[in-house]
Amino acid sequence: MKKEDKPDFGEFKANPLADKTIVLGVSGGIAAYKACDLASLMRHAGANVHTILTPAATQFVSALTFQTLTRNQAHCQQFADDIDWRPEHIDLAQKADLFVIAPATANIIAKLASGICDDLLTTTVLATKAKVLLAPAMNPRMLEHPATQNNLAILENQFRYKIVPPETGEVACGDWGAGKMASLDSIMAAIQGQLFSHQTLAGKNILVTAGGTREPIDPVRFIGNKSSGKMGIAMADAAYARGAAVKLISTVAVDRPYPVIVVETALEMQEVVEGEFDSCDALVMTAAVADFRPLAVSVQKIKKNVSEDFTLELTKNPDILDLLGQIKRPDQVIIGFAAESEELLSNTAEKLQRKNLDVIVGNDISVPDIGFGSDDNAVVIMSVSAERETLPRMPKRAIAEHLCDVISQALLEKQESGLTI
Ligand code: C5P
Repeated sequence: MKKEDKPDFGEFKANPLADKTIVLGVSGGIAAYKACDLASLMRHAGANVHTILTPAATQFVSALTFQTLTRNQAHCQQFADDIDWRPEHIDLAQKADLFVIAPATANIIAKLASGICDDLLTTTVLATKAKVLLAPAMNPRMLEHPATQNNLAILENQFRYKIVPPETGEVACGDWGAGKMASLDSIMAAIQGQLFSHQTLAGKNILVTAGGTREPIDPVRFIGNKSSGKMGIAMADAAYARGAAVKLISTVAVDRPYPVIVVETALEMQEVVEGEFDSCDALVMTAAVADFRPLAVSVQKIKKNVSEDFTLELTKNPDILDLLGQIKRPDQVIIGFAAESEELLSNTAEKLQRKNLDVIVGNDISVPDIGFGSDDNAVVIMSVSAERETLPRMPKRAIAEHLCDVISQALLEKQESGLTI
């Protein structure tokens, strides 16, 4: 390739992928020939590239090609004779910072969507914790097929998979439509995006609330709720790891490298959040704020022998999110949470509108074992500017990572549409 023929990667540094280990998965479509260039580009960008070819891919391209281009052994066989004591798929799975499957055929997309692992590539993907970038390439009718569309939707809804959408054009068999593998520029940009996503919130001020408020009845009793604060803390941690200046306002005390302001009641939370709101770019309100508080707090411990019945008069707490939704600046992003026991979708959508939020995260609290107190949750994300997303059961940190992407995107959209101060 002549110097001037090299794809233009814009702001790419000389060795942007230095020290990164990438497993390049090649499945069996004609676009496999482009994977050779991709392997070479990745190596020239500094990555340590290990290639795994599916048996079908070897009909189009050879292991030797990748071996020569990447200067690492290329792998095809799941049950090779010459392996070390450690199975190849476990070794590669653990080494990888990122998996890139290019081209990804309808077949491998279907296998990954259902967890089938019948060759070295699919087995290794199942054994890795690294993110997996998929560059689909196939005939337009195969891409349009509901089976493929369903499988892509399944993968898109899993935090670990990212799709680099195929382009429209004339495909190898002469048909016209969407199905051409994304350009190598797009794939390289997506690789960098995945590997260096941690800085996407650099320079942003993110305010997060966590935990459940406690509304005192007397000096020893309170009205509380089941919130553990885990979602909010995971959210603050994820945003901090991506370079944001984070402030956590929490009913749970935690030791963190960013400021944590501990509050107890809804009114205390309101005071702090309102004081901080103006200087934040995004507010993520995960806290379970009590809707009511005792009208009067007894100074003394209430005696149980006053009478057989005891009536506690309650008064409404301010809805912090609602109030801030009304005064937010056009450049600010507000994310609310909705814990629903019925009509998840309609109730969540209604709150998104009513509270003037940018994004809302709904979860069904009637599902056992997830949500309150658990390390996992399953949520639906609704936004005023994007399609509805459903995230299946996953760790709260994984949901938080996804929400960091959502926040970056929402802030970027506001910036691009001129909605800045
Ligand atoms: O209407 P609902 O209470 O279900 O809304 C939940 C969302 O509103 C959460 O993001 C929660 O933090 C916020 N909220 C609030 N103030 C309240 C009640 C809820 O900010 N008093």
